[in-house]
Parts: sequence; structure tokens; C-alpha cells
Amino acid sequence: MKKIEGEILNNIDLGEGMFHLIVSAEEIAKRAKPGQFVNIRILDTLCPFIRRPYSIWSAEGDVIEFLIKVSGLGSRLLSERKRGKIDLLGPLGRAYPEPNFGDNETVLIGGGTGIAPLMFYVKYYSLTNFKFIYGAKTCPPDYLISRLGEIIGDFLVSTEDGSLGFKGLVVDYVKELIRDGYIDPQKSIFILCGPLAMLKSFQFLPPENTYVSMEGKMACGFGVCMGCAVKRRDGKGYLRTCTDGTIFRLLDIEL
Ligand SMILES: Cc1cc2nc3c(=O)[nH]c(=O)nc-3n(C[C@H](O)[C@H](O)[C@H](O)COP(=O)(O)OP(=O)(O)OC[C@H]3O[C@@H](n4cnc5c(N)ncnc54)[C@H](O)[C@@H]3O)c2cc1C
Ligand code: FES
Repeated sequence: MKKIEGEILNNIDLGEGMFHLIVSAEEIAKRAKPGQFVNIRILDTLCPFIRRPYSIWSAEGDVIEFLIKVSGLGSRLLSERKRGKIDLLGPLGRAYPEPNFGDNETVLIGGGTGIAPLMFYVKYYSLTNFKFIYGAKTCPPDYLISRLGEIIGDFLVSTEDGSLGFKGLVVDYVKELIRDGYIDPQKSIFILCGPLAMLKSFQFLPPENTYVSMEGKMACGFGVCMGCAVKRRDGKGYLRTCTDGTIFRLLDIEL
């Protein structure tokens, strides 16, 4: 496992506790595929000791980008790092399947910062036959909306407080879109990334045609600690999110 020294180029506060971290790291940028993540050493100190994993939002030239929400000590300290060297492990994990889905439409559903790897997927493969649905708690920052517009084009939004788009949970929005015939589950491949509670709420989708990114707790990030185990659906033990995933077919795991 090779450590890579990156250089923070910019770290932009987006509001709503989110930030856009831009890092120069050629070795990672050149190999990164959508769905993969980087395990970041927050500071060159003992605390926080464990690295924090973040999905790659974009990789172009020698630059990688991340969309991060402050949720605890590590992400808060990272949000305060504006310049300097940064210790990275990556790209880690398995990428999303290549979009060879025949006539099926790809339906991408992201909750919160879960939109980051999905946006990378659309851009990396210049995806055309797809729908993109973004579930947020409240109206996302303008910065994010305009970046979504640039990369995705048209997308649908739900917010829990109704400040933009459908009012309510993204799962209820998707159920409504299915009822209205806008999405046909039998002719779609679903790719989901978001909090575990959101992923669990989508278990009504066809499990053989649904892929989920697991963004739960992780420690080593490269397969040795079992801190990221998920139960196999066939009862034959566990899989490691960091090396067997983070992308799994719903058919293969228990959420
Ligand atoms: C593959 C992956 C991709 C992700 N991508 C993104 C992203 O793009 N954007 C984003 O905002 N967030 C992302 N996350 C979530 C992000 O890693 C967490 O928000 C972050 O770790 C929180 O760290 P913290 O120090 O701020 O929070 P805290 O709650 O203070 O600390 C959480 C840390 O505690 C430790 N920990 C706690 N319980 C366990 C356990 N059971 N096993 C091992 N370690 C434990 C881990 O080090 C964990 O990272 C991703 C997570 C994964 C696994
Ligand atoms: S995080 Fe250590 S095995 Fe996955």
C-alpha cells in the first residue's frame, strides 16, 4: 500500500457545513475511477489517528477533488486546512460497473454528499441515457447547484424541508416518479450513494439491478482490520467494504 503526498490547492467553504477540497495528486488522479475513494490522513499528528475515507468527486489531469460535509472532528479539522502537503492512500476500493447496461436507463440517486461519486460517474463515462436524483435536507448551496448543472445538465431534487424541488425524503420522491411512469424499475439500473438509512429505504428496488455505495465507518481502508464488514446476503459470512466494495449489488449484501 503506497502513501502518496498530495498538495492542497484550494479548500472552498460551500456553506451548509460542506466544503470542496481540491488536491494535486497525480498518481491518484491518473488511476482514479468513479466509485473509488481516498483515505486521508487529516493531520500529521496522533489525533485524529485513523484516516478518513472520502469518495473522489472528480479526477482530471493531476488534480483530485472531494465534496465533504463536516460531521465530526476529522472532517472539521480537514475543512480548516487551506494549503500544504497532505498524506493520501488511494485510489482505494472497487469502481462502479462500466455502464454497459444495454437499453436500460441508469438512474443515479444521491443523498447529501453521496452525489459526489455519482457526478464523477456521469462525467467519466460521458453518460447519456440516465436520470439523476439528488436528495438533500435543505436547499443545497448555489455553488453545488451550478456544478450539478455543468456536469449533469438536468437533474431532479428533493429536500426534506421543501425549500427546493419535491418536499420530503428522496425515497418518497422516487416512489412517486415510479408511480407516474417517469422511472420504470424493470428497465432501469439503479446506482445509489448516501447515508445507510437512505440505502435501506430503497430495498424495494430490484436487488439484481441496484448498486449501492457503502460509506459507513472505516479504519485501515485496505482490507486488514475488518472494521468495515458487511453481511453477505447468502449467509456465507462477511465482505469488506473497503476492498470487496465500496460498491455492492443489493442482491449480494444485507443492509
Ligand atoms: C468509502 C467512503 C466514502 C466516503 N465519502 C464521503 C464523501 O465523499 N463526503 C463526505 O462528506 N463523507 C464521506 N464519507 C464519510 C466520511 O468518511 C465520514 O464523514 C468521516 O469519516 C467522518 O469523520 P469525522 O472525524 O468528521 O467524524 P467522527 O464521527 O468524529 O469520526 C468518525 C471516525 O471514527 C472512527 N470510527 C468510529 N467508529 C468506527 C468503527 N466502527 N470502525 C472503524 N472506525 C470507526 C473512524 O475513524 C471514523 O472515520 C465516506 C465514507 C466512506 C466509507
Ligand atoms: S477498513 Fe479495514 S478491512 Fe476495511
